[in-house]
Amino acid sequence: MNKPSILIARAVFPEVIARLQQHFEVEQNDSDEPLSRDQLLARLQGKAGVFTTGGERIDAALLAACPQLRICANMAVGYNNFDLPAMTAAKVLGTNTPDVLTETTADFGFALLMATARRLTESEHFLRAGQWTKWSYDLFAGAEVHGSTLGILGMGRIGQGIARRGAHGFGMNVIYHNRSRLTPELEQECKARYVGKEELLREADHLVLVLPYSPESHHAIGAAELAQMKPTATLVNVARGGIVDDVALAKALRERRIAAAGLDVFEGEPKVHPDLLTVPNVVLTPHIASGTVKTRLAMANLAADNLIGYLVHGKPVTPLNPEAVGS
Ligand code: GLV
Repeated sequence: MNKPSILIARAVFPEVIARLQQHFEVEQNDSDEPLSRDQLLARLQGKAGVFTTGGERIDAALLAACPQLRICANMAVGYNNFDLPAMTAAKVLGTNTPDVLTETTADFGFALLMATARRLTESEHFLRAGQWTKWSYDLFAGAEVHGSTLGILGMGRIGQGIARRGAHGFGMNVIYHNRSRLTPELEQECKARYVGKEELLREADHLVLVLPYSPESHHAIGAAELAQMKPTATLVNVARGGIVDDVALAKALRERRIAAAGLDVFEGEPKVHPDLLTVPNVVLTPHIASGTVKTRLAMANLAADNLIGYLVHGKPVTPLNPEAVGS
């Protein structure tokens, strides 16, 4: 029997490609460069599945041009590159990679919080530039982490992981805001108190964003929200670019209306707004929150499991829209 054909849209672990080759005719983009929209459309012709990495936009126009497509398997927990209603209408399954990256991403969120509060990269640049000539009482004095108030906007699995680290590891007072409130058991486990968004902005010493990107969360943190934060507060974004208005943030950082920010994601990434590159009080990393070898391999394998599960056995592992295909 002919194997179904799939496209792997970006370079991934060779061992995962080898696994997929046991089940599929595999066409792959070996390069680290994303395919252009036209290249993606051309290479998807005749493919039943596609392994995406979060950057490839799957929308109604693409689905109409690729009628043989049955599944798009994202190697990411976020899936804002999928127009899920359009996929459901076209009976195309979408899958993502939840759970396997939760703790690793929470580790990174906490690392970014600490680096930001304690001015790690700013002070390292100073040292490397040969500017460290003497001790001084306020040299790179930053913000306290232990015992301070940790605010979390978006309290899914990763938000809860960050809350647990803050509450149990650093004795932080944890407050959160989310579309829906956690169960009392989960609130107790995370030692987290539900508050309105205004109180969150007003009270947090460190505000961490972990909410999904959608048209509703676009610029959830803009000039008005930044103005409500404490001038000593730090802001950390490990969620998605576009949740923060980067221009407003750069202005607030420059004018010291908040103390510092740590950003792993950006509007229009991999481009970074030039204003953010010139303010000193921001720690910038290139979207690596889930980036340990073990976790990235687990994510790639879960995306592969979804392709194999659905196209070979009729049963995906982590479907986003099972109603699309009745699985
Ligand atoms: C990374 O950003 C992811 O969504 O997994």
